[in-house]
Amino acid sequence: MPAVTITSRAIERITSGHLWIYRSDVSEASTAEPGAVVRLLDRRKHYWGQGLYSSASQIAVRLLTREERPFDEAFLAERIRAAAAFREQVAPGVQARRLVAAEGDLLPSLIIDRYGDCFVIQTLSQGMDRLKPAIVKILRKEFAPLSIIERNDVAVRALEGLPGQAGVLAGEEISEVVVEENGRKFCIDLRRGQKTGTFLDQRENHAAAAGYARGRALDCFTYTGGFALTLAPHCASVLGVEASADALELAGRNQELNGFTNLEWKEANCFDFLKAADQARERFDTVVLDPPAFARQKPSLESALRGYKELNLRALKILNPGGYLVTCSCSYHVSEADFLDVIASAALDAHRTLTIVERRTQSRDHPILLTVPETHYLKCMILRVV
Ligand SMILES: C[S@@+](CC[C@H](N)C(=O)[O-])C[C@H]1O[C@@H](n2cnc3c(N)ncnc32)[C@H](O)[C@@H]1O
Repeated sequence: MPAVTITSRAIERITSGHLWIYRSDVSEASTAEPGAVVRLLDRRKHYWGQGLYSSASQIAVRLLTREERPFDEAFLAERIRAAAAFREQVAPGVQARRLVAAEGDLLPSLIIDRYGDCFVIQTLSQGMDRLKPAIVKILRKEFAPLSIIERNDVAVRALEGLPGQAGVLAGEEISEVVVEENGRKFCIDLRRGQKTGTFLDQRENHAAAAGYARGRALDCFTYTGGFALTLAPHCASVLGVEASADALELAGRNQELNGFTNLEWKEANCFDFLKAADQARERFDTVVLDPPAFARQKPSLESALRGYKELNLRALKILNPGGYLVTCSCSYHVSEADFLDVIASAALDAHRTLTIVERRTQSRDHPILLTVPETHYLKCMILRVV
């Protein structure tokens, strides 16, 4: 197995529990091919673990194990089985769930989502991409899936020098499936849907929000109606607002699948919609805000915070007393503390007093690795206007 020599700073980082070694902390990598599993050695040839080497990314190595045992197909299969066993604990019987959540399952840069008998994978580093045939083999053996699809049509792969690609890797050509989530049926577009088809990280938050939702509800950034459909039986009416016409087309089909008659959809920019709703003196009893990540990179943090402030301010202005705000941020760079500060500042400007009813995060099938802060990205606050 090729070896990579790492600096003392890299050793400090991995001994403190992180899995990433930056290129500036690699002192020698001349024998490592792009995507190889490499041994990590210090300059005295002492062994520190094995990882996936990338010749392109700033993250030069992603740690797989500190054990001496070679990271081979059997080892990979063990990790996938362990991840699947955990899902049986936290999401038993759930049809649509994340089976492998990359670093959170000690399989850096590998996503495996399960939609019934269809599996969708993303291999987001050179090393994981090289392991793709082994991953497909393991999935076929362990789960006998109907179809395994890759959704590697994502921008982050460019950082690894990998092409964007999507398609069937094994089994049947399936482009849509219907799955049940929290008792509602959802049609998932496996080929063109966002992420691997939908936002599985919000599944538990959809259910939690339904526990408070009431009256006239507004679901901003609804995508295919994840919150809206879960809230619908608890509310007099729900309006889902979304900028993507394709997503709304699916939301409409989801509504029909569930037979709800108290839902409406509107294609609009949510910032403009909220402003117009306030000007028209519209009022709601429940408002959900689940925008895309505003801070994808650290330098955009300030403008992201301004975006969250504006959005939350506008939402709070149209909330009735006693109403609930369910507000989310999926920007890793915006911490929970930053997010709460922004909401507090928006509440002061909107002359609303809020209590925190629940501070939530991503569904438990998206594990947060305690020593890898990047694995904790989603914040979902449920607040009540008093
Ligand atoms: C995080 S996803 C929402 C997921 C959804 N709430 C769920 O639980 O399934 C964000 C959505 O916002 C939409 N979007 C992005 N910018 C928008 C804007 N300015 N106005 C309305 N929708 C927008 C995207 O198309 C995407 O569907």
